[in-house]
Amino acid sequence: MKIVMLGAPGAGKGTQARMISEEFGIPQISTGDIFRANIRNQTELGKKAKSYMDQGLLVPDELTLDLVVDRLAKDDCAKGYILDGFPRTIPQAEALTRALCEQNSKIDYAIDVEVPDENIVQRMSGRRACPVCGATYHIHFNPPVQEGICDECGAQLIQREDDKAETVQKRLDVYHAQTQPLIAYYKEQGCMYSVDGTRTMEDVFNDIHKILK
Ligand code: AP5
Ligand code: MG
Ligand code: ZN
Repeated sequence: MKIVMLGAPGAGKGTQARMISEEFGIPQISTGDIFRANIRNQTELGKKAKSYMDQGLLVPDELTLDLVVDRLAKDDCAKGYILDGFPRTIPQAEALTRALCEQNSKIDYAIDVEVPDENIVQRMSGRRACPVCGATYHIHFNPPVQEGICDECGAQLIQREDDKAETVQKRLDVYHAQTQPLIAYYKEQGCMYSVDGTRTMEDVFNDIHKILK
């Protein structure tokens, strides 16, 4: 089962991808998480990606594509995967379709988590993330048991650099210009599904579960 999560920044792609991953036993592959790990480890890729991410811009396709293709070739992807934050541009989607086509494969489900821009800024300002295991929390909607500490691994939670209100607005603009056209792209491929992402995390997950069954 190969799944692409679509949706604006902060729509809940990562939250839902993690729940799908646990339920179906397939890996969640988040390009944002991979870039952030590279920034933490101060790799060459991390240094290049950081300047774009801090401005709310997309990392160039040439830095993104090989990374994903390499990741999808790993053993744990044999039964499928959930792509979270990739593809994000039409050229990325076309490259993915081509790479899969070479293996006689394709994306089975593209799922758009729909949340209007008005709700996004509030979600982002309350988000806290675990820099070690990638778990995501929200100070009101999904707080950790102990304030500031990851339930899963005990690490200190952080606020993401790009979650400042000005940067969030830029990310929304970039989303509408470059990523939203993917909805039409996957509609044409016949695998496009939408869920109302404004409801509780559990309700959104139930809707996704119905689609995947
Ligand atoms: P990325 O990390 O992918 O960020 P994003 O798309 O902006 O999305 P987010 O991770 O911010 O949000 P999400 O939809 O995962 O929401 P979450 O579940 O956390 O990318 C970051 C940057 O990396 C990009 O700007 C770009 O520079 C670069 N990049 C990454 N991939 C790239 C690519 N392919 N090409 C080029 N550049 C790339 O939820 C948000 C908050 O809301 C959380 O606090 C959560 O707890 C809460 N929440 C979730 N669901 C609900 C709900 N139903 N009700 C209430 N609260 C909820
Ligand atoms: Mg995310
Ligand atoms: Zn953690």
